[in-house]
Amino acid sequence: MPETLSIALSTSLPEAAQAIVLYADDKGSLGPVAAEIWQRTGLDFERIAKATGFAGRPGHMIDIPVPTGLTADRLLVLGRGTDGEGDSEAAWRDRGGSLFARLAAADVSDVAVILDEPGLTPRLVAALAAGARLRSYRFDKHLKRRKKPEDTGKQATLVIGALKGVEDALADALAVADGTILARDLVNEPANLLGPEDIANAALKLADIGVEVEILDEAEMEKLGMGALLAVGQGSRRPSRLAVMQWNGGAKGQQPVAFVGKGIVFDTGGISIKPAANMENMKGDMAGAAAVLGLMQALATRKANVNAIGILALAENMPDGNAFRPGDVVTAMSGETIEIISTDAEGRLVLADALWYCQQRFSPKAMFNIATLTGAIIVALGNDHAGLFTNTEALAAKFAEAGRLTGEKVWHMPMGPAYDKLIESRFADIKNSGGRSGGSITAAQFLSHFVNDVPWAHLDIAGTGFGGASSETNASWGTGFGVALFDRLVRDNYES
Ligand code: BES
Ligand code: MN
Ligand code: ZN
Repeated sequence: MPETLSIALSTSLPEAAQAIVLYADDKGSLGPVAAEIWQRTGLDFERIAKATGFAGRPGHMIDIPVPTGLTADRLLVLGRGTDGEGDSEAAWRDRGGSLFARLAAADVSDVAVILDEPGLTPRLVAALAAGARLRSYRFDKHLKRRKKPEDTGKQATLVIGALKGVEDALADALAVADGTILARDLVNEPANLLGPEDIANAALKLADIGVEVEILDEAEMEKLGMGALLAVGQGSRRPSRLAVMQWNGGAKGQQPVAFVGKGIVFDTGGISIKPAANMENMKGDMAGAAAVLGLMQALATRKANVNAIGILALAENMPDGNAFRPGDVVTAMSGETIEIISTDAEGRLVLADALWYCQQRFSPKAMFNIATLTGAIIVALGNDHAGLFTNTEALAAKFAEAGRLTGEKVWHMPMGPAYDKLIESRFADIKNSGGRSGGSITAAQFLSHFVNDVPWAHLDIAGTGFGGASSETNASWGTGFGVALFDRLVRDNYES
């Protein structure tokens, strides 16, 4: 794991801190503890605020070097602002993110943050901490000559009124943030250094925290009849894998909730090869698998009271003398035959077998998959919402709420039998591409052929899993989208 911000809690001001951060509200006033600390400097707060244009809005800052009366080298006052929605978790997470960015820009490595607002619940303190941790992540392991020394070794102490409840909330929030960071790290890693086997090995590491992990190789998948998944990887020098993880934190025998991720370590398009421009982004075509892996780490780390399955469908899509071709007919594990129209519509093929396997083996009470599935979802929704497709209307509202709380937003897209017309095949039971119109919907419709009557939802994260705009809580290319969203969904709906 990369080095990220370390976070401690204290009920008193750590005198050794290099810097102290106070928050002022949008009227420019300080809370009781902050006011007391300020008073030790003997400075006139009102006058300084006026002279520097500080009004307590987000982005506003007062920076006092070597303040008299304090041992710290810096005293920073940040505008807290209001967020319109009251004091939402998302707002405090973003506040934590911009706090970290401020500290990095001001070259502060050890800070005490005074959090003395009366209504500040443990959950909101934890959200601020998680936001700061998330923003501190950077993918710089391959920058051998260009690494900046100030980028490492930062530490924050959150100074709060009472520890009660905060320690637990903080541990949970950081477990989720670190799951997101694990996912980002995998997404950012280039495909020459991260093949199907390497992701399988990353899954095996979760055994250390109590996750049961099995890896199926090609021979085992062959025996199970996974002709769709195996077709995708057959042009690669690196064999496909299926990683199966089980976290049994719930009651014994209780039906699990299952998560399946698309893990194409690189998507060239295969024989239906992609254009060269931006193809390097296709190292991120395993962002769904990365999110499921990060989720399983988060659930196990925070000892979630749930039985959860995580399945990663891992393959590399390459053109080769042995690659599958347009026109090929393959048989999925379900027995359904598929005509390959485009070898670039490979994600739905690996998911078809992984979803079917998941259902047959585990009879989950709900099943979710996450995938960088279609360019069309970027056309439809851009980079701010993932596409949500489901066979169970009630799930849409649950995802919307989880999205609102985590900032990982989803938009409910339509499905329906009318779209099946577009994927009818002349030569097989179904074909793997319905062409351009409704491209994300026909992809979802294809997946639904491999889902029986279990409540199911599919998240298309082609626009949100990597690239896009950086946010308050992410400065890296890979986003880790899905970890926090699924964690929140589990916490609010499937934990007892
Ligand atoms: N991995 C791509 C989708 C993608 C595109 C993800 C851009 C992230 C950014 C997927 O395998 C793909 O190639 N989909 C095709 C489907 C088409 C051939 C039916 C697409 O979207 O063009
Ligand atoms: Mn593709
Ligand atoms: Zn793909």
